[in-house]
Amino acid sequence: MTGNVPVTQSLDDIYPQDALEGQRKRWSNLLSSFKEAYGRPAEFVSRSPGRVNLIGEHIDYSLYEVIPMAVTADVLLAVAVSPANGSPTVRIQNVQSDKFATRSFTIAKDGEVDIDPTSHEWTNYFKSGLRGATQLLKKHAVSGIGQLNIDILADGTVPAGGGLSSSAAFVCASALAVMRAHGQETVDKKELVELAVVSERAVGVNSGGMDQAASVFSQRGSALYVAFQPELSARTIEFPQTHTPLTFVIAQSFVAADKHVTAPVCYNLRVVECTLAARVLASICGLKDLPDDSSPLGFSLRSFHDSYFKKKGAVGDDVKDFRSQLDQLVHIVDNYLPQEEGYTRQQISELIGTSIDELEKRYMTKFPVRADSFKLRQRALHVFGEAVRVLKFMDLLQSPTPSDDKESEELLKSLGNLLNDTQESCRDIYECSCPELDELCKLARSAGAYGSRLTGAGWGGCSVHLVPQDKVEAVKKAWEDKYYNKRFPDMDAAKLQDAIVVSKPGSGSTLFQVAGRESL
Ligand code: ATP
Ligand code: GLA
Ligand code: MG
Repeated sequence: MTGNVPVTQSLDDIYPQDALEGQRKRWSNLLSSFKEAYGRPAEFVSRSPGRVNLIGEHIDYSLYEVIPMAVTADVLLAVAVSPANGSPTVRIQNVQSDKFATRSFTIAKDGEVDIDPTSHEWTNYFKSGLRGATQLLKKHAVSGIGQLNIDILADGTVPAGGGLSSSAAFVCASALAVMRAHGQETVDKKELVELAVVSERAVGVNSGGMDQAASVFSQRGSALYVAFQPELSARTIEFPQTHTPLTFVIAQSFVAADKHVTAPVCYNLRVVECTLAARVLASICGLKDLPDDSSPLGFSLRSFHDSYFKKKGAVGDDVKDFRSQLDQLVHIVDNYLPQEEGYTRQQISELIGTSIDELEKRYMTKFPVRADSFKLRQRALHVFGEAVRVLKFMDLLQSPTPSDDKESEELLKSLGNLLNDTQESCRDIYECSCPELDELCKLARSAGAYGSRLTGAGWGGCSVHLVPQDKVEAVKKAWEDKYYNKRFPDMDAAKLQDAIVVSKPGSGSTLFQVAGRESL
């Protein structure tokens, strides 16, 4: 899965056949609007898709494996570049100019930009991609940093704040655009993901690496198995042939999950809780002076896991060993982190042998959180349990092709059960669902879905459902009648159509060369 981001001059390389006609119109409109806005043609378009996570929720920042796939919806940035005589300036517009206002800002001579994470501003996502790309350009000693004017027109079809990671699509497309603007036509996928993961955190959410990996590495027709330890890697997974093709249906809850606003009590707090659970477990198990890892706060449950079994002398790269290790860790949590009510700062400081001041400085300052108690037990139990479910899901996907309809039905049911178990864990012990997502899942299951769960961060946003193809219409009808029309009676037909997407796995980031092309 490594290698360079593909460069193309053909939309056929990017979209499936049934999406081409609509995409041609959209791209033509983008390129002509660019010319109108800036009085010159765009030179290239950088493109990165959104993603849906199939399984492995809230475990990427604990450095456990996840299985997402890209969706067809994406972010496009049409770009033209010229040498800056005065202050290098970025002018950026959006085709949805009523929602995302036109901006321009200057870049310092060393290529740096200011990002204010306290303001929820769409161009912060471009700036974070710019910042990450600038660091990579410096690392590669590329010339021209801080010497360019860059004009951009953005067009995104991933619903913003809807759980399909429009943010990572935006940051990856931005970083890719900045690399290409500086003459880099070959951009290493892994370097792009690594820079996008770190730079997206500048907007204030201390997220893991799944979204950016899915956006960059994905390939049309396959899901992606992403690993973060010992280093970032990804490989495609084919879906098995079943009597009714494996169909994933995505449904919006239309509950806006504003991760920035809720970060101190939701997302960023979960990252702190998992990190502190790892610290406390390491301390209880006598593991000292462990090195920092690549997780957001520098120490993860996965590092605790690896160090614990290394100390015990286990070799175990074997999947069976790995699963039994995770089961053993569940017992350790059960025995050594018994407090259902959570742990106070005082208790945690004592357990890991540090002061409260140190604890706050190290884990709660850059990304502040608001909590009196930290639910270490529940968070660790979710993470270890979910990591096991990912392994089981992967095993099922790789099992031999079912020989008859009965076996095939069994396989789909088993996959679905794992999705349902994830939803239960997210709802009850990780506490990242909401009543609306729970309801969408319940309705889908009653109408024939094999399995249903939230996808992405949760607390609103999106859900994903494994549905037999002949039940898709029944599931849609159940949602329309009992969820959308009931909760949002004024919703127009277009919005309702956007609410439900039957998604095939899409392709990852691409650079599209416009120069010299007359038509698309
Ligand atoms: P999740 O992270 O839950 O999967 P998400 O990535 O869509 O969902 P956020 O991380 O909150 O949600 O990011 C949404 C933000 O990304 C928007 O508020 C906006 O600032 C920016 N964004 C997304 N799409 C666009 C777009 N088409 N044009 C401009 N800005 C966009
Ligand atoms: C958000 C984050 C990801 C991941 C998911 C939950 O989408 O950006 O890194 O943590 O939530 O699985
Ligand atoms: Mg996001």
